[in-house]
This record gives sequence, C-alpha cells and structure tokens, in this order.
Amino acid sequence: MTQTAVALSTDARGAIVEALNQSVAETAVTTMLAQNFHWNVKGMAFGPLHALFQEIYEDHFTAQDDLAERIRALDAHAEGTLAGMLERSKVKEHEGHASDKEMIKAMQDAQETLAATLAGAGQVAAEAGDTLTEDLCIARGQTHEKFAWFLRSHLA
Ligand SMILES: [Fe+2]
Repeated sequence: MTQTAVALSTDARGAIVEALNQSVAETAVTTMLAQNFHWNVKGMAFGPLHALFQEIYEDHFTAQDDLAERIRALDAHAEGTLAGMLERSKVKEHEGHASDKEMIKAMQDAQETLAATLAGAGQVAAEAGDTLTEDLCIARGQTHEKFAWFLRSHLA
C-alpha cells in the first residue's frame, strides 16, 4: 500500500532515512570530487572535461539538497557534517595528482557507486510503500547512470 511520510512505521522510516543519508553523503563527496577534478584537470581535453566536471558538481549540489530535504520531510535528521559524510560514503575523495584518464575513471566509478546506492535506496522506499522517496531515488539513479555513460564513453 502506498504510504505518505506521516503514515510510515518507525522501522520503515528508519531504514529509508539511513539509505537516504548514505545517498546524501555519497552525493556530497562526489560533488567535492567533481570540483577537485574541475579545478585540476589538465591535457588536450581540458575544455570539455572542465565543463563536464562542472555539470556534475552543479547537478550533485542541487541533488544533495533534494535528498536531505526529503529526509526532513520524513521528520528525521539529515547528515550535515563533512566528517559524517566521509564516514558514510563508499565514494572516497581523491588526494593529490591524477591524470585526466584517472579522473574520468574515478568519476565513472563514483557515478556507478551512486547509481547502485540510489537504486538500493529506491528499493527500501518501495518496500515500505514510500513512492515519493522511491520516485526521487529513481530519478537520481537515472542521472548517475547517464553520467557513468558519458564518462565511460571517453575511455572506449
Ligand atoms: Fe569553475
């Protein structure tokens, strides 16, 4: 049965919020990763890669807010610290130098991790009948798969 935020059980709400907080964390860490690469990329493909990494961090910055505000609509606490996000996130920061190809591969991996996390979060929401969270997660998963395709195509 379809459930709105107020009708969810405590257990269902907890599971959804946990999945959404992981999604926020990975989206935030990937925002930083995209900015890092936007700033530091070099090489003959500088122009398009600089622009693509910007497109990714701008998309992800908006998405963090959408995911965190869904958590608040579920009346739970949204992760709001960088330390907490790094702890929750399976996507890791990239320290030091990377070549353009290493950046593309690292960002492709991040997008694939995010696509899997959002698909999982959507499944948790679907099982609880929370179609509104499920819809948000599906949309985000599609965007991450699109970016994964863009990046993968550079390395073909
Ligand atoms: Fe810039």
